[in-house]
Amino acid sequence: MERGLFITFEGADGCGKTTQLMLLAKTLKAKGYDVVVTREPGAKGLGEKIREILLNYDGEVSSQAEAFLFLADRAQHIDIIVNPAVEKGKIVLCDRHTDSTVAYQGYGRGLDINQINTLNSLATGGKKPDLTFVFDIDVETSMKRVGANKDRMESAGMEFFNRVRNGYLEIAKQEPNRVKVLDATQSIEDIHIQLIKLINQLR
Ligand code: TMP
Repeated sequence: MERGLFITFEGADGCGKTTQLMLLAKTLKAKGYDVVVTREPGAKGLGEKIREILLNYDGEVSSQAEAFLFLADRAQHIDIIVNPAVEKGKIVLCDRHTDSTVAYQGYGRGLDINQINTLNSLATGGKKPDLTFVFDIDVETSMKRVGANKDRMESAGMEFFNRVRNGYLEIAKQEPNRVKVLDATQSIEDIHIQLIKLINQLR
């Protein structure tokens, strides 16, 4: 059986990645592909409990503890959901993955990037996505899209999100074959067409 694909969607909150993920899933399913839609943190079960803490806990959270919670969710998610589906030949579309931890906890919170890379490898067994889309957007526009009702992560402030944005662009510079940057201020349809083209280049 042909091995599946693991494709991740990345970018700052409010970048529109989830809309694009759902649209792509619909298009691929219509073409007959077996598609799994999933996310980090919180795909199901234990992950949902971890997500609840990460986004809604209102006490103090150290940056290290935050990173380990995202990584615990990832280890569970890769083992229980992603790897089994890819091995069965499915196309897994995942809303956020390892690059989020590099961008948010590394560039955003200021944790050591090399250490995060090592921890990411531990959580994933060293497996990387086949393709990653980064939806790039200026912080003012993305924060307007998020609106007033912000969760714990979304409340981190403009400077934090500028660092996150630069982090993503730095990751894309370092891994240009895997990571493709899209201008997230374009129309939904224009971005969708670009994603299809990039996926067709994989197969
Ligand atoms: P979501 O709202 O896109 O599902 O993402 C949840 C939040 O968690 C979002 O603000 C980004 C953040 N996040 C990290 O800070 N580090 C990570 O490793 C992941 C996966 C998400």
